[in-house]
Amino acid sequence: RQYLSADKEKELIETANTLMAKGKGLLAADESTASMLKRFQSIGIENNEENRRLYRQLLLTGSKDLANYISGVIFFHETFYQCDNNGKPFREILKDNGIIPGIKVDKGLVPLAGTNGESTTQGLDNLSERCAQYYRDGARFAKWRCALKIGDGLPSELCIRETSNVLARYASICQQNGIVPIVEPEVLPDGDHDLETSQYITEKVLAATYKTLSEHHVFLEGTLLKPNMVTAGFDCKKKYKPEDIARATVTALQRTVPPAVPGICFLSGGQSEEEASVNLNAINQYSGKKPWALTFSYGRALQASVLTLWTGKSENVSAAQNQLLKRAQAHGAAAKGEYKG
Ligand code: 13P
Repeated sequence: RQYLSADKEKELIETANTLMAKGKGLLAADESTASMLKRFQSIGIENNEENRRLYRQLLLTGSKDLANYISGVIFFHETFYQCDNNGKPFREILKDNGIIPGIKVDKGLVPLAGTNGESTTQGLDNLSERCAQYYRDGARFAKWRCALKIGDGLPSELCIRETSNVLARYASICQQNGIVPIVEPEVLPDGDHDLETSQYITEKVLAATYKTLSEHHVFLEGTLLKPNMVTAGFDCKKKYKPEDIARATVTALQRTVPPAVPGICFLSGGQSEEEASVNLNAINQYSGKKPWALTFSYGRALQASVLTLWTGKSENVSAAQNQLLKRAQAHGAAAKGEYKG
């Protein structure tokens, strides 16, 4: 039974379609404070609020051409309410440039007791009130990440069921507040498993996710999926070509993701910037049924070289901003299957 008003459904569809515009993707700049510690340690700068603000200001205030390739930016709560040097909120800067502000609403991974090191994701408490506030403050989409490990007997049935359910509850709550939920059940690339194993597990996880979204009456036309690409584990001895990754990825998606879903935006999951472009390009060039937009929602694959160029120095800001534009342009081309390398 329809539980969203026709107006709300229309708004969700419009937001999702705008985010998935041809040749555009998302910048995931929603690293938690703890994740920023890792990023800043790698370039030797202190992880304090001001440095995080300066870094996000760098990302958001370069060339306006960024909006040709980036349709939305995902923020962490702190960044969502931060401002540039002139006191203008970052989310207003985005809106003025035609980029939609998004917000990570989960509160991180927590252990699933009694399992072999598996996790679920917390953050449902007060989620509706938080979404309502974020909507008033300009957010139009959200992200919630669950992570599943491949290993001996992993992921467990329990982990698949629990993460599917929490993602469905999150998606339902977002939609009631006018916010497009990005559903992210990440199958992690850690381990020595081969490509076939990754495909098999990804299919099981996505099938369970969509079954549960249906049980919770989630309006699929107003959702986006953020999955892993199907790749072999980091420690797998066998190496695969981008064409193999593309075939495995699209096949897994064909078997599990309904055509009603407007778009699929991959995470980069530790791939290099170049690999993330090449693999996304191969996915878009793969000839087979692809009834959804296939694009990017990259964190590290958009930011790794930007951080290295910046290293916290104001004289490096514009070079780092140019680098961000270059990477966004490359991924944008890959999202059309037109990346030349
Ligand atoms: P990576 O692209 O660095 O994997 O991060 C994307 C993301 O937001 C994962 O939730």
